[in-house]
Amino acid sequence: MESGEKPFVRPVDPVKDAAALFVVCQKTVGPELRTGIPNRIAPYIWEVPYIHLCPEYCFVVDDGNGAAVGYVVCAPDNRTFSRRFREEYIPNLELWDPILKKPPMEPLADWENDLTLGVLQCLYRPEDLLHPVCPRLIEEYPAHLHIDILPEYQRMGLGKQLMEKLWAKLRETQIPGVHLIMDSRNVDVERFYLAVGYNRFDEVVDGGASGEKGKDENRSLWMVKRL
Ligand SMILES: CC(C)(COP(=O)(O)OP(=O)(O)OC[C@H]1O[C@@H](n2cnc3c(N)ncnc32)[C@H](O)[C@@H]1OP(=O)(O)O)[C@@H](O)C(=O)NCCC(=O)NCCS
Repeated sequence: MESGEKPFVRPVDPVKDAAALFVVCQKTVGPELRTGIPNRIAPYIWEVPYIHLCPEYCFVVDDGNGAAVGYVVCAPDNRTFSRRFREEYIPNLELWDPILKKPPMEPLADWENDLTLGVLQCLYRPEDLLHPVCPRLIEEYPAHLHIDILPEYQRMGLGKQLMEKLWAKLRETQIPGVHLIMDSRNVDVERFYLAVGYNRFDEVVDGGASGEKGKDENRSLWMVKRL
């Protein structure tokens, strides 16, 4: 970060911020996705569709000079978002990058053995956002989000500010709650969510295997907040 400039939170500009946000996602995804083809695909799952389908629910950290160095992206309602993802977003994918061609969808890949196939299949399965193992999640917390900030801009209160802007926007449209799914191994990130006001979803959702509330069969945590 250059001295003298003060980063701040603002609404996304879907055109001007597109390239920078793509890179923020590539640099901040889980370490196993940070190289090769999986890294080229990752933003098309966890960042681009939100800017494309519902930019009014997306906010960025501006470095003070107009460059986006972090974001929160959000879908206000998973049911509408998963339908629009299939109907309006998937048809564009191959035009944007030929690598995004639909793969064989069965059998489902084991991500540890074939990460590229795993992420590509994920891109073509927006209905997973409906969480059929527990429909109560999206009934009570219909919105979901992803938040990522470049390392040089972390621990400056900007993650909290992004959340506050998003919650205000969601409240304006009477969305009753928001959730997010995170890797349970990321203990520091769970601390962030707890510090800013999220809780674990209050039900055991892995069929009882872990006995832990809000942890699913992929060892992901479901974090929720009422608005
Ligand atoms: C997680 C992330 C969004 C947090 O944003 P941030 O701007 O760094 O967080 P803030 O500065 O707003 O932190 C608010 C509070 O959360 C807590 N917190 C934040 N990061 C924390 C950490 N690494 N460890 C423990 N507590 C943390 C603290 O209580 C903090 O308040 P404090 O700094 O006054 O102590 C950011 O670190 C990030 O983008 N990380 C990499 C990508 C990522 O993991 N995204 C989430 C994927 S699920």
